[in-house]
Amino acid sequence: MRKPQSLRAQLVARLTLPLIAVVVLDAAVSYFVALHYADRAYDSWLLDSAKSLAQEVKTQKDKVTFDLPPIAVEVFRWDAMDKTFFKVESAEAGFIAGDRALPSPALAAMAADAPLFSDGEIQGRKVRIVSVLTASAGGDSGDVLVSVAETLNKRRGMMNEILLAVVAPQLLLLLVTGLHIWVGINRGLSPLRDLATLIGQRSARELDPIPDTNVPLEVRSLTHTINALLQRLGAALAAQQRFIENAAHQLRTPLAGLKVHAERALAADSPDAMKPALSHIKHSADRVAHLSSQLLVLAGSESVSQGSRPFQALDLAALAKACCMDWVYKALEQEIELGFDAPRIPVSIKGDETLLRELLNNLLDNSICYSNPGGRINVTVLADPPGWVVKDDGPGIRPEEAERIFERFYRIPGSRGEGCGLGLAIVKEIADLHAAQIKVGPGVGGNGTGISVLFGRQTRAG
Ligand SMILES: Nc1ncnc2c1ncn2[C@@H]1O[C@H](COP(=O)(O)OP(=O)(O)OP(=O)(O)O)[C@@H](O)[C@H]1O
Ligand SMILES: [Mg+2]
Repeated sequence: MRKPQSLRAQLVARLTLPLIAVVVLDAAVSYFVALHYADRAYDSWLLDSAKSLAQEVKTQKDKVTFDLPPIAVEVFRWDAMDKTFFKVESAEAGFIAGDRALPSPALAAMAADAPLFSDGEIQGRKVRIVSVLTASAGGDSGDVLVSVAETLNKRRGMMNEILLAVVAPQLLLLLVTGLHIWVGINRGLSPLRDLATLIGQRSARELDPIPDTNVPLEVRSLTHTINALLQRLGAALAAQQRFIENAAHQLRTPLAGLKVHAERALAADSPDAMKPALSHIKHSADRVAHLSSQLLVLAGSESVSQGSRPFQALDLAALAKACCMDWVYKALEQEIELGFDAPRIPVSIKGDETLLRELLNNLLDNSICYSNPGGRINVTVLADPPGWVVKDDGPGIRPEEAERIFERFYRIPGSRGEGCGLGLAIVKEIADLHAAQIKVGPGVGGNGTGISVLFGRQTRAG
């Protein structure tokens, strides 16, 4: 089974992950933009230094000279954080002054008045270099290249400061927003928690509707569904309660009879005097046995309706024939003619054989029980739609009774026999289970009762 996912975790993830992505992207963009402008400012200072050095390049008698007093060189090189290097060179004279090791671009690659910035390494340290080309003042001794470089400590310090300045507020923003989201989600989910507590505190008997006056709109549909379920549960429980009361009531009469006649039998002096009481005891025992078997069939059909037994393919004609054979003897006893009519081809449906046999048995039991001696019963198997029709020429059922006879424990007042009023309720339950329709109509020759069970289109797979 899949582990249930937490709604809170899903909401937190869906809200905070995009937020984190946006914040990280924003911080990265801000960082690189700030870094770019800081780099440009340092580059511009470096260029100013190169240009001020270029001012010192002089030409005397066609010879390029660079005479910067040592104290000026020291001032030039002084920097609290970085080390500064420079190099003056020309095509004709080669290296003129400064740090020979400073890497510089090829003179041919340089354009006049266009400084060239590059990254390089000197004495194992990374440096930023700017090179400017300057025409030697007052002579034809060619262009002079002045390069100035400095180590990257200031720039790195600036990088760290920018990083801190950009990331710290973003982190704070993320923290505050995340906290807000967490509190918001918890508050948003609290009606669900309250609902769970409310339902959890109820006993199995408390089926009155859950109040939904202070419930948000989204949760209201849930409370409505639960209330509808509670209503159905209440109706089912009430029906079950009625059923138990009826069953107990039905059992009480034959059991009381059993007790009275057993006492009479015990009080009798001779076996012959006991006989009438024993016959009553047998009669009462038969009633109890009949009632309990009807109750068992009803319980059995309910268990199938809850999906404990799958449907199987079966032939309605063969099933009806087998049932009729079982009732032939009883019909003969009552001098009733039992007719059977079925198409030559099998009539297949999917269903529960045991229950369908019970259905037909109850219809045949009624027809035989309520018909008069010398009567006639016809069982017909229909092919299209598949079904059974059981007709008799007995007393018939008045239209106003036609609905009530399917209720549990209902018997038409004055009915003969010792039935308990469950037979047709069982028929209805089993028919419903097979999505079959029941119709009550006239019987043989327009007299008596005809009950048809039409299976039609079936939806439940076997
Ligand atoms: N074929 C019939 N002809 C006349 N009346 C019938 C017929 N079938 C059913 N009834 C009437 O419908 C009532 C309900 O029938 P149902 O089979 O549910 O109960 P029952 O026969 O009284 O008891 P049970 O079948 O549980 O022993 C019966 O009491 C009877 O009055
Ligand atoms: Mg019956």
